[in-house]
Amino acid sequence: MSGSLPYVLILYYSRSGATATMAQQMAAGVEQVAGMEARLRTVPSVSPTSEATTPEIPDEGAIYAELDDLRHCSGLALGSPTRFGNMAAPLKYFLDTTSSLWVNGALIDKPASAFTSSSSLHGGQESTLLTMLVPLLHHGMVYAGVPYSATELLATQSGGTPYGSSHLAGPRSDRSVDEHERALCVAQGKRLAKLALAMQKMREEAS
Ligand SMILES: Cc1cc2nc3c(=O)[nH]c(=O)nc-3n(C[C@H](O)[C@H](O)[C@H](O)COP(=O)(O)O)c2cc1C
Repeated sequence: MSGSLPYVLILYYSRSGATATMAQQMAAGVEQVAGMEARLRTVPSVSPTSEATTPEIPDEGAIYAELDDLRHCSGLALGSPTRFGNMAAPLKYFLDTTSSLWVNGALIDKPASAFTSSSSLHGGQESTLLTMLVPLLHHGMVYAGVPYSATELLATQSGGTPYGSSHLAGPRSDRSVDEHERALCVAQGKRLAKLALAMQKMREEAS
C-alpha cells in the first residue's frame, strides 16, 4: 500500500472503529484495480481548549495524514462518523488546513467519494455524506457516489446509499459492518480507483 504508484487516499476519522473498518473495505476495492494503490490515513482528535497534543504517530491503525498525502493523490475517499448529521470535527479541522492546496488547484479534476457510520438508520447518514461533499466541490473535485449497478443498494436492510457507503452501527455502536455494507464499500472503492485512473489520463492529455 505504498510506493510510487498512483494512489487513492482514504482519509478518515474513527473513534470506535466502524469508520476505520469501512476504510479498510474501501481500500480492498481500490486495490482490485491494477495500477492504483490505496493509501490509508487518519487524523488526530481535536481538543476544545488547545492545539493537538497527540503523539506524532498513533498507537494503532493508520498513520496521520499530511497535506502532501492529499496533494499528490489521484482520488480521495473521505470517511467520517455521523455527528449531529455532519462530519466529525477532526476531519473538518484537517480540511480547514488545506487552503494551500485550494490556492494551487491541486485537487481540481480528481474524483472524490465519501462514507459514514452512524448509530441510527435515520440519524443523518445522507446529510453527512452530502455535506462532506461541499468542501470537496470547493476544491474542484468531481464527486462519485455509488450507482445502483451495485445491487446491494436495493437489498440492504441497514446501511448503503447512492451518495456513498454507510454503516448502521446501532445504539451501542457495536454492530459489525454487514455483508451488504461491506460489498458497497468495496464497490465504491473499486469505482473510485477506476475513475482516478481515467481522470489522471484526462489530466495528462490536457496538460
Ligand atoms: C458527538 C457525537 C454525535 C453523534 N451524532 C450522531 C447522529 O447525528 N446520528 C447518529 O445516528 N449517530 C450519531 N453519533 C453516533 C456515531 O455516528 C456512531 O457511533 C458511529 O458509528 C461512530 O463511528 P466510529 O466507530 O467510526 O467512531 C454521534 C456520536 C457522537 C460522539
